Amino acid sequence: MPLMTTKPMFDLAYAGGFAVGAFNVNNMEITQGIIEACAAEKSPLILQISKGARKYAKMNYLTAIINAAVAEYPWLPIAIHLDHGDTVDLVDTCIKDGFTSVMIDGSHHPYDENVHVTAEAVKHAHAAGVTVEAELGMLGGIEEDVVGMDAHDYEANVEKFLTDPDQAKDFWQKTKCDSLAVAIGTSHGAFKFKHEAKLAFDRIEKIMKTCPGLPLVMHGSSSVPQEFIDLVNKYGGQMPNAKGVPEDQINMAVGKYGVCKVNIDTDLRLALTAKIREVFATKPAEFDPRNYLGPGREAIVSMVRRKLGPKVLNSANKSDAINAHWEKLGKPLPKFYGAK
Ligand code: G3H
Ligand code: 13P
Ligand code: ZN
Repeated sequence: MPLMTTKPMFDLAYAGGFAVGAFNVNNMEITQGIIEACAAEKSPLILQISKGARKYAKMNYLTAIINAAVAEYPWLPIAIHLDHGDTVDLVDTCIKDGFTSVMIDGSHHPYDENVHVTAEAVKHAHAAGVTVEAELGMLGGIEEDVVGMDAHDYEANVEKFLTDPDQAKDFWQKTKCDSLAVAIGTSHGAFKFKHEAKLAFDRIEKIMKTCPGLPLVMHGSSSVPQEFIDLVNKYGGQMPNAKGVPEDQINMAVGKYGVCKVNIDTDLRLALTAKIREVFATKPAEFDPRNYLGPGREAIVSMVRRKLGPKVLNSANKSDAINAHWEKLGKPLPKFYGAK
């Protein structure tokens, strides 16, 4: 019973002051690192796949990798989620592929169009028993296939882009989405803040008041660990002034403000890149990929384990309770991802 929607996870997370980590997967080593960490900590997890990841790795390869993980840890609560889906067609494809959860991101559309496209995606997904995350407000940072703006321009004008609490209520009522990604000062990527890193807690609090019970999602939540930035810069990289969301602020959002899902991609990329750079620089004769991808994967395991603990997401040791809740909800999905 390992694959499930996000519903049992968010039900318990909302009430229990923890959040589920949603980690982007693009290849085998990244997936294995995340899974190993979550299994060691008995933590639920969301594996999320972007349009870019589908294109890069090809869905049938990702399916095989995820199925291998599910078979290795059959007791681990896992949701397979589309990250930043931009069309209802892509949502439909992912439902057919066996995803248990999808995001429809209409945040770059005018409000009415966002409502329209989200409501349509919700209709399709709910008919298939799949949960839906939507987005309202605008995040900073420019990623492949994700609409945003330069993170530092964003920071300077952030008030304009934050999610409007009354609009969030209207949006939730009209679309019936299951969770909402909100703009509260975060940006995608490794350069989130030029000045002091600060989340708009007053805004999250207001959204919680207008939308009680709605699980909130924080995108752009990498903390950009300094140890990885130091390694990258020491061994030939150029990432001066990289800055992420401090872990204590993530922990506060998770514990007090209804944030049930925390999205992390950049930190995985940084861990892998830092370790590969280190091996290349310190062992210039090394050319066996296992000897540089392996240390990268190890760095992902320890970084993710740290995030699952009480000082950040607080999701460790929650797997049994989530499995029990999912069973009570009584709608087991196919045992294997992609199963027809
Ligand atoms: O929010 C975006 C994620 O980091 C995915 O990025 O579209 O480059 O795969 P990607
Ligand atoms: P980061 O760039 O902070 O890791 O955010 C990832 C994300 O929001 C994926 O949707
Ligand atoms: Zn995102």
